[in-house]
Amino acid sequence: MNKKPPLSKSKENYPSLQKWKNKLFLMLRYSRQMNASMPIEKLLEILAKETKEILDADRCSVLLLDSEKKQLEGKIAHGINVDELFFPIDKGLAGFSAKTGKIINVKDAYKDKRFNREIDKKTNYKTKSVLCFPMKNHQEEVIGVFQALNKKEGHFNKKDEELLRILSSQAASAIENAQLYKELKKSFESFINTLVATIDARDPMTAGHSHKVTEYSVLIGKQLGISGKEMQLLEYAAILHDLGKIGVREAILTKRDSLTDEEYKQIKEHVIFTRNILNRIYFQKHLREIPLIAGSHHERIDGKGYPNALKGNAIHKLAKIITLADVFDSITNTRHYRTPMPIEKALTIIKTESNSHFEPQCVKAFMDISLDGLISVLSKDIIVKLKQQELKLFSDYTVGGFLKTIGKKYVKLSNKEKKVIERFNFYYLKGKEKDAENHKRNQRKN
Ligand SMILES: [Fe+2]
Ligand SMILES: [Fe+2]
Repeated sequence: MNKKPPLSKSKENYPSLQKWKNKLFLMLRYSRQMNASMPIEKLLEILAKETKEILDADRCSVLLLDSEKKQLEGKIAHGINVDELFFPIDKGLAGFSAKTGKIINVKDAYKDKRFNREIDKKTNYKTKSVLCFPMKNHQEEVIGVFQALNKKEGHFNKKDEELLRILSSQAASAIENAQLYKELKKSFESFINTLVATIDARDPMTAGHSHKVTEYSVLIGKQLGISGKEMQLLEYAAILHDLGKIGVREAILTKRDSLTDEEYKQIKEHVIFTRNILNRIYFQKHLREIPLIAGSHHERIDGKGYPNALKGNAIHKLAKIITLADVFDSITNTRHYRTPMPIEKALTIIKTESNSHFEPQCVKAFMDISLDGLISVLSKDIIVKLKQQELKLFSDYTVGGFLKTIGKKYVKLSNKEKKVIERFNFYYLKGKEKDAENHKRNQRKN
């Protein structure tokens, strides 16, 4: 029978029971955090922080392997400007660990030939003990290195190696998941942008419309407290809202004269096409409502909209936001059939159509947007750059406050109010001039 070591002996090798309890608690917290889905940068930050604590190390860094460049990149490192932290895979203890897939435990780094002193020099640090553990993915390929520096008391022991083995295997799968998710998101967004570019290409006059509607929607959404996955849903639905225009004949889309009833009917069908096309795309669970939301952007809360004449709460909350953003972008830009409206008129329309065309809460949220946010989107494609100082001036006003100001009699305006109106119109009209130029150029082309 195996005898348990006497208490006194275990005391030498193991920290106190309380310390182990603490470690266990930290490990549990660590595992929980690894399960949460979060952006990779945030994940790495937590990893490094928790590992440092669990191992009683002074510093901890997470280095990811860029196998194409054959280098390790420090994503998170305590006390170090991470921009400086990348080095070839054949350098340093971490490099050795990545290359060989082996764990490295060194008591005194300066006595080890493999140690790369440059980083210490750069960061004004004195490394003593080092523990490196290679992180491997499911295919057993090294994806990075976990590195703990300077054990607070003594040096890293076998128990620390074991702890780091557990931590890094959990970290590796969390990192792999986060990387996969990031890749997936990137490819999904490039796919969406390609779809949007095809709408833009069909009608240069409305090019940029989908992106601007998205930006206005985000501004309104933020005021309404929308965030996270719901915000992502809003953004994707907004950018795709007019996708169905792919199905409308170009001659109708770009017609300069007023439309016949039949042509107008065909234009209106674009929302049905939007919904049908999007229905064929597989969306992740939290994005499933994209077709419904995007396909409802011409509904009105008084039930006079299309395609389903839905009323009030029968319309998806996010669709109501896009509706407002869509109208605002339309009336403040040149269209084939009309010139853009003066800003006062455009804002007044939004305000007065509250409770008929638009959801009052959305109108309120729109009116609460800070004027600098609005002008940044409005003047997006003008050549003149917004001055920082003027953005500051605009930031003192909300859209609603600005509308009240332009409604005042000129003699009643303060100097600041005169200035904000004058500068706003400068940027707004500059944008409009550009619109008009594009319009003329397109007319000449046709
Ligand atoms: Fe539309
Ligand atoms: Fe639209």
